[in-house]
Amino acid sequence: MFKIVPRPAARCPSLSKKESTALSQHRPFYQNKQLELYAAKEANRLTLRQLVFFGRAMDEDRLIKSANYVRTELPVRIAHRLRDMQKLPFIVVMQEQVAKVYELYWMAFEKFKRYPPINSLQDNVAFCQFLSDILREHSTVIPSLSLGLSLASPHLSPDDLDSFMRRMLVSRISRRVLAEHHISLSEIHSEKQASSHLGEPHVGIIFTGLNVKQCIDKCGALLRQRGDCWPEIFVDGHLGTHFAYIKEHLEYIIFELLKNAMQATTSFHRDASSLPPIRATIVAGANDIGVRISDQGGGLFETLVKTPSDLFSFSHVRNAARLQNSRIGALRTVSSSPHGMQATVDEQVGRWQKNLAIGKYSEAKDVGSDPEMKAGAGPHPRIGIGLPMSNIFATYFGGSLELVSLDGWGTDVYLRLPKLGTNLEGIEV
Ligand code: COI
Repeated sequence: MFKIVPRPAARCPSLSKKESTALSQHRPFYQNKQLELYAAKEANRLTLRQLVFFGRAMDEDRLIKSANYVRTELPVRIAHRLRDMQKLPFIVVMQEQVAKVYELYWMAFEKFKRYPPINSLQDNVAFCQFLSDILREHSTVIPSLSLGLSLASPHLSPDDLDSFMRRMLVSRISRRVLAEHHISLSEIHSEKQASSHLGEPHVGIIFTGLNVKQCIDKCGALLRQRGDCWPEIFVDGHLGTHFAYIKEHLEYIIFELLKNAMQATTSFHRDASSLPPIRATIVAGANDIGVRISDQGGGLFETLVKTPSDLFSFSHVRNAARLQNSRIGALRTVSSSPHGMQATVDEQVGRWQKNLAIGKYSEAKDVGSDPEMKAGAGPHPRIGIGLPMSNIFATYFGGSLELVSLDGWGTDVYLRLPKLGTNLEGIEV
């Protein structure tokens, strides 16, 4: 990790509590005018390829350009979402958790708006620290939004609720990608984190030779660490497939799909002496990378949805599980957890390993009995967000995720991700 030096006070644009209260009081007059100025601008959307090309030959000048792009682009993207939130029915935006997210975004908008231009590498170190702080402060946004919108679900039509959530989540992914990519480019440039990625080639957060089979193997092994009795995973197809992609996104999706397949198989065959395996097939097409995950977990007929794609919905009308007490309880735990929702599979592994090292679990298999892990303060908490999030990750750069249920037998999930990196980020950023 590169060293983060404390910011001089003059460059610190964060608001004091007093300022924040004052701004909240004057918000309708002062801030909305400011907000309109930013919301009137279009987001400057990028492709994966542009992110790689720009980051490849990094020098001081380009790094400073990248910092100023992030500094000026993020408030525009946040402004669009704040406008979106203002258009919600009052009863929805006043819901405690939704209001919490609204406040967080106002604060972030203000901070970015006030942040002075970055002119030197030293300025950039302070800017990276500023970004890291905001990324951490926003770690509970997804469970908070999900909880708030679930509780407010009766006040929104399913279409309105789903399109709102989609815009919020795509936009959040896009902002985090820009912030994390810039931090990573800065770290690489500072040459102080030499081998932290074990030699895997990457430009910022984009891994240029991401190996799909290795990702499946890693996620399968990680799931097994939970100590449950899981089915085997067989991987076939084009085993050498690799492409340029954001590793965290691919791992998030694969982990979630394998976890669902394993849980369904274990539950459907609970009385059997052995479990049928899960098959993961990788295909490198001309334009896409395809992964099919097939399980024999009985299909989706026991879930509370009418069509498989309703599993991606946030509305209780389309997916009755959204208002189940156990889910709402888990969401409350995660949205108030100091860890929030750890975003990546690696972060979850790190936390498990740390807790193992300090003796929190006497054996690896005790991980599953940790109340926080049970409620789900990891990247894949049991809050019903994993599948909708996987869909959003898959479609962010123009890929797709489809579920096909053979009721009474099993489910096939088809993941397609663009191979060439030439698609722009989703329109919703
Ligand atoms: C979020 O995580 O919700 C963000 O908007 C983060 C971004 C401002 C860096």
